[in-house]
Amino acid sequence: MTVLVLGGAGYIGSHAVDRLISKGYDVAVVDNLVTGHRAAVNKKARFYEGDLHDQKFLNDVFDKEDIEGVMHFAAFSIVPESMEKPLKYFDNNTAGMVSLLEVMNKHNVKRIVFSSTAATYGEPKQIPIKETDPQIPTNPYGESKLMMEKIMGWSDKAYGIKFVALRYFNVAGAKEDGSIGEDHHPETHLVPIILQVAAGERKELSIFGSDYPTKDGTNVRDYVHVVDLADAHILALEYLKAGNDSNAFNLGSSTGFSNKEMLEAARKVTGKEIPAKMAPRRAGDPSTLIAASDKAREVLNWKPQFDNVEDIIRTAWNWKQTHPQGYNDRTEETK
Ligand code: UFG
Repeated sequence: MTVLVLGGAGYIGSHAVDRLISKGYDVAVVDNLVTGHRAAVNKKARFYEGDLHDQKFLNDVFDKEDIEGVMHFAAFSIVPESMEKPLKYFDNNTAGMVSLLEVMNKHNVKRIVFSSTAATYGEPKQIPIKETDPQIPTNPYGESKLMMEKIMGWSDKAYGIKFVALRYFNVAGAKEDGSIGEDHHPETHLVPIILQVAAGERKELSIFGSDYPTKDGTNVRDYVHVVDLADAHILALEYLKAGNDSNAFNLGSSTGFSNKEMLEAARKVTGKEIPAKMAPRRAGDPSTLIAASDKAREVLNWKPQFDNVEDIIRTAWNWKQTHPQGYNDRTEETK
């Protein structure tokens, strides 16, 4: 039996493919390579280039493969972009999910592990955020993912397709050997941007907002290592295979680091000065996001290996130093 990984050429998907293969799973990958990288996909996985909206293509993949479960990473995820182009997000993310569930139902595939996000909660009423807290997204990205969760909920009731929604907090880091890592165009995330400055590719870091009600005035986030995140998907798949009901889990460390603390940690890890300046707030940034993640630890038996941000940054720095141009597969037009 095969695990089908949608979006397996992306940052998180490629780490999940790699972990699945290292644990002996048979893996097939679907990716349209719009944001993903062919070189990020472990060579032991069968690769199909195509889009979730293309039902003929998807049906062919499901005909060819004997699929025991789907991991779904194929989505757009840039919050500011979603504010400007909401329909792009509802089309790719939400409508893509409808297309996928139709094909899964047709082929009697009844398990899906889904990349959801802390952005489904919006501005939290309390910290740490629990899975049962209200989900009131403040941007179309979060809304598109919340809709996907709800669509899976109704599809469970109607067709018996069981799902696990994994609500990620802030993902960072890379496989320890530096062979795969984060390569976005454009890059918007804090850790890779800090490391671009450390590597001399950017002049300085702009820290967005210094007047938040936090310990040092900058935003606080909860960082989780990408390999730990990948492992949680495998545990979630096994949870479904054991016959458990649909469920949702936060994935975080339950510890918050401010943007300034992340900068200091990166200075320590890299030994570089990393020039930085304070800049205005970025629209849509909640002040503090910290997960209550004991549910994943208790129910899925998730045991993250990385419990401090310096180690997480160290693995990202290793990737950056060994791959200064990332996968180096983007032409000027596609950057
Ligand atoms: N930041 C800067 N300067 C930069 C880039 C980011 O100060 O150049 C700050 C942001 O303002 C924020 C923090 O660094 O305070 C983290 O920003 P990221 O863009 O790295 O991550 P976000 O917290 O905005 O978003 C991440 C995921 C989203 C997800 C969200 C949910 O990227 O997909 O977490 O928590 F929705």
